Amino acid sequence: MKERFQVHGGARLTGAVKVSGAKNSVLKLMAAALLAEGTTTLTNCPEILDVPLMREVLVGLGCEVIVDGTDVMVTVPRHLTPDADFEAVRQFRASVCVLGPLTARCGRATVALPGGDAIGSRPLDMHQSGLEKLGCTTRIEHGCVVTEVDHLTGADIALDFPSVGATENILTAAVLADGITVLDNAAREPEIVDLCNLLNSMGAKIDGAGSNTITITGVTELHPATHEVVGDRIVAGTWAYAAAMTQGDVTVGGISPKHLHLPLEKLKVAGAEVETYEQGFRVKMNHRPQAVDYQTLPYPGFPTDLQPMAIGLAAVSDGLSMITENVFESRFRFVDEMQRLGADASVDGHHVAIRGKKELSSTKVWSSDIRAGAGLVMAALAADGISEIHDVFHIDRGYPHFVEQLNALGARVERIED
Ligand code: UD1
Repeated sequence: MKERFQVHGGARLTGAVKVSGAKNSVLKLMAAALLAEGTTTLTNCPEILDVPLMREVLVGLGCEVIVDGTDVMVTVPRHLTPDADFEAVRQFRASVCVLGPLTARCGRATVALPGGDAIGSRPLDMHQSGLEKLGCTTRIEHGCVVTEVDHLTGADIALDFPSVGATENILTAAVLADGITVLDNAAREPEIVDLCNLLNSMGAKIDGAGSNTITITGVTELHPATHEVVGDRIVAGTWAYAAAMTQGDVTVGGISPKHLHLPLEKLKVAGAEVETYEQGFRVKMNHRPQAVDYQTLPYPGFPTDLQPMAIGLAAVSDGLSMITENVFESRFRFVDEMQRLGADASVDGHHVAIRGKKELSSTKVWSSDIRAGAGLVMAALAADGISEIHDVFHIDRGYPHFVEQLNALGARVERIED
């Protein structure tokens, strides 16, 4: 069933909103549960489409998974099936995170290649070379990545780039390896820290999570645990940018503002008042934002997942903004849709120059991925009439109760069946 959003422009978002657990954490935590026989319980899970999709993957491996609102219980049998179901895995990129746990538990794994998507090609070379350093053989065969190993052995591994997915697959294999693994140039995202916190509460020995170098001392067995998923900094950042874009006043809870340090600093430069609390922040914008430049980089740099929101803000700011995408090569495809909404943007390679306008112009646009979709909804709020955002299933993959939350903040957005 295809659905679209009808967005009334001219809204000023005001009020309070609370974010739930991070999409980019919960899926990896569900996969990490595979490392221990028994029931691992995750709380504060987001009610988004990707959670039941991951449930399908884990059920195909022999697990029982209960999704009960914001609680997810994963019961893992002693013997897992090491082959992830092609159809289930193909549907979403994050499913590749079962590779490390399956290799560690079963000594082999077959996982369908997730393939490229609308934000650029997403190869697995660093996942493979990291697992090979731990003693695996890996190959690509019949559209799947295949790993095999007699026993995993700790190793010194240096990543060419701090890939989030490669860091996760190496971590979740190395926890059950024989000896010590030192992972250099590791990803530092809060979701990596969250994964390490769960693994440590399952009995793993990991030091240095959140820094460039993570040290993992292998153990022979892990046990199940209960864990609260870290707040979603990308959803929180979306609300922060939406507040600024609509000259609103929004308080966001459920998130450490430290996880959004640079995006909030950028909003201050754009002219917003930003107050931070222990588990939240408030963004207030009383006038038209000033143009600001952005460069996306791995954490703690500006997140590539908030780049569409930065483009939306630039599109209504006073002056010229230059936005540089350094993480995913094709992430500017959605700029075409922003241009349909009237944005004055020109793309040159991995740079986009945007001269802000006072108001955008309502039209029909199509979302191409989760974040681009959310960015288009926000931009439509700053347009002059009623816009239609199509293919909203992308947005539903990452933003729980999005329409309800927008309307609670004073927007007028309706979900309509095509
Ligand atoms: C994760 C997030 C995604 C976020 C991204 C960067 C999930 C489900 N997704 O994606 O929302 O935008 O981190 O913060 O958590 N690369 C290689 N070879 C590899 C692995 C990666 O060349 O083996 C490249 C990718 O093509 C990309 C860059 O490295 O250009 C970053 O990718 P990575 O950090 O791995 O992102 P994901 O884990 O796929």
